[in-house]
Amino acid sequence: MRVLVTGGAGFIGSNLVDRLLGEGHEVQVVDDLSSGDRANLAAAARSERFALHELDIRDPRVADLAAGFEPEVICHLAAQISVRRSVADPLNDARLNVEGTVSVLMAAQRAGTRKVVFASSVAVYGRPDVIPVPGGAATDPRSPYAASKLAGETYLAAFKALHGIDYTTLVLSNVYGPRQSPEGEAGVVAIFTDALLDGKATVVYGDGGQTRDYIYVDDVVDGFVRACGEAGGGGRFNLGTGLQTTDRELHTLVAAAAGAPDGPGFAPQRLGDLPAMAVDPAPALDALGWRPRTDLADGLKSTVEWARGRRSGQ
Ligand SMILES: NC(=O)c1ccc[n+]([C@@H]2O[C@H](COP(=O)([O-])OP(=O)(O)OC[C@H]3O[C@@H](n4cnc5c(N)ncnc54)[C@H](O)[C@@H]3O)[C@@H](O)[C@H]2O)c1
Repeated sequence: MRVLVTGGAGFIGSNLVDRLLGEGHEVQVVDDLSSGDRANLAAAARSERFALHELDIRDPRVADLAAGFEPEVICHLAAQISVRRSVADPLNDARLNVEGTVSVLMAAQRAGTRKVVFASSVAVYGRPDVIPVPGGAATDPRSPYAASKLAGETYLAAFKALHGIDYTTLVLSNVYGPRQSPEGEAGVVAIFTDALLDGKATVVYGDGGQTRDYIYVDDVVDGFVRACGEAGGGGRFNLGTGLQTTDRELHTLVAAAAGAPDGPGFAPQRLGDLPAMAVDPAPALDALGWRPRTDLADGLKSTVEWARGRRSGQ
């Protein structure tokens, strides 16, 4: 299969690229390297079935290269990923995430692409009453980032209705794992890992009781690969564990994996922080045969091992 991955030099995208190449697919990446890193694609670059195009997804040349490559599937992950940056500059967020997604869909239309698999976010659920959030729950965007992700989802449906391009939306909870930069939506794992390995102070906000649903990157990649097939067409699926982990519990687990003391400092709760989040992945099991497989403690061990290896230059 030929697959175009936007944002393929980033944390999740580069892990997806490696898995697709490992399965024998032809993979091309469009990434402007704004937050991604060429080093994430070092292994991929050794494959003859791989190419990186250093371009903004809104660049008209993306449609030209897609028309030449004729990808059967486009996995669309390129995005402005920070909720806080979206609040500070909503217009920039809309340009990257709305205009960017429409540009990718237009490229898909011209290239005759069968399906687009889209990375959405649990941010679209706002402050949910029921946790874990069920698959079909109502959306309630409360940040420009959530609004731009939801707009992307809506455009997928419009392009399917108009041009017959199939799609699957994957609603990602807090993804963690190797190659994550400390600035991501779930950057707290990377932040704790870096600080604890470097013997620096760590901070937990509020009483440490805020919860998130941490999902390992290999599991998320598995969801994307499954969605590249026919299954799940026209659907949106939560990719999470359904389990809530408090900030304080997470700190204990990362400290144990890093062999560091479990003594974070505490700072006042940040305004606007969501008190709790987890999503129910059951519909993804029915439609895609997907389930989360990686236990949090094991995933954190692999993440810390990767961060250690990077420090020793491996
Ligand atoms: N990490 C998470 O926990 C999480 C949670 C929910 C949703 N998501 C979504 O998953 C996707 C991947 O996130 P990630 O954590 O790997 O982030 P990332 O920042 O590592 O990856 C995003 C990639 O997109 C590229 N990019 C950004 N704007 C671009 C543009 N205009 N043109 C071309 N490339 C561009 C960046 O250089 C980067 O390589 C994003 O769409 C994000 O919104 C991530």
